[in-house]
Amino acid sequence: MRVLSPTPAGLRTAVGWLNASQPVGMPTETVYGLAAPYDDVRAVAAVYEAKRRPHFDPLIVHLASSSGLEAVADLSGFSDTERRTLEVLVQDVWPGPLTLVLPKRAVVPDLVTSGHATVAVRCPDHAVARGLIELLGRPVVAPSANVFGRVSPTAASHVVDELGDCVVGVLDGGPCPVGVESTIVQMLPGAAPVLLRPGGLPLERLRETLGEVATSMAGDRIIAPGQLAHHYAPATAMVCWSESVAELSDAVLEERLAGQREPVALLVFADLDGALARRVARRVAADVRVVPLSLDGSWVSVAHRLFATLREADASDCTRIVVEGLPRDHGLAPAVHDRITRASRGRL
Ligand code: TXA
Ligand code: MG
Repeated sequence: MRVLSPTPAGLRTAVGWLNASQPVGMPTETVYGLAAPYDDVRAVAAVYEAKRRPHFDPLIVHLASSSGLEAVADLSGFSDTERRTLEVLVQDVWPGPLTLVLPKRAVVPDLVTSGHATVAVRCPDHAVARGLIELLGRPVVAPSANVFGRVSPTAASHVVDELGDCVVGVLDGGPCPVGVESTIVQMLPGAAPVLLRPGGLPLERLRETLGEVATSMAGDRIIAPGQLAHHYAPATAMVCWSESVAELSDAVLEERLAGQREPVALLVFADLDGALARRVARRVAADVRVVPLSLDGSWVSVAHRLFATLREADASDCTRIVVEGLPRDHGLAPAVHDRITRASRGRL
């Protein structure tokens, strides 16, 4: 796979590939996507194939600007009020990490939407992504550029590691600022908005415009296949504790970790002064590596580093990843909890 600088020449090369029905890795503010022209069925099929993604899992259409929305989404069924709400939302948060699931127009191929009557659309807040889409002159589909079910890439090198020679190239836009995928909300005429996936746009922000937003309950029929339990999984066995390390006594900590003969990566929310690492080194007779998720004590930093940290733990000699209980407050917390829970499910 070729790694292209996001220069005008790099963008032109990438557009040449896209026009030849070859998918290209593309940075966005959330994670790297694997882009293909949305209306080129051969290119879209190549995206599914490179990712080894089942055709029942639909793709997100990415726009260069919100003005392209009505070319792919059919807003005719919405009432004036619903339409106004949608317009305000789009104006407020696009470009940004929000994907809207809306009634689709016939021009969007069934392969993109897995035969659903809806299409997922977003406008990424990343100059390289938007530059690429603009130069191509039509929207692109872009699922996260990882093998289906695995951790999403947040750097160009991750895309190379994931997809190797199955893909011709990737535009290197540096590390993704947000680090978790977009928030997905379904909005259909006459129905309350439903959150399908927590993500880079906090729920509080959505509620400012939409009021109450229903969350699709566990056990419901899967409407966003990103809700599949086994997703975002590292190769290494992973468990999540319900308590933080600080909440555990030395005795309990010792009991939980001391039996480990192989190295363990212990992911903690933050360890700004290194006190947690020192405590674990002193109290636990096993090779436990304390890895802070956040470098500054913020959720923004946790989200930014989450997938890269899982990848690093996977690449290390650790045979087990343990994540301490994280606070459950606001902002990006629900998105991070969602990814961690899925990453550990079925692998305890
Ligand atoms: O941040 C993101 O959204 C990234 C970047 C690359 O833009 N993309 C991304 O795509 O996360 P992907 O394919 O990994 O996840 C898209 C999710 C899937 O879970 C899919 O099932 C859901 O969106 N989805 C797509 N179309 C849908 C639809 N019509 N109805 C419900 N869910 C849909
Ligand atoms: Mg994905």
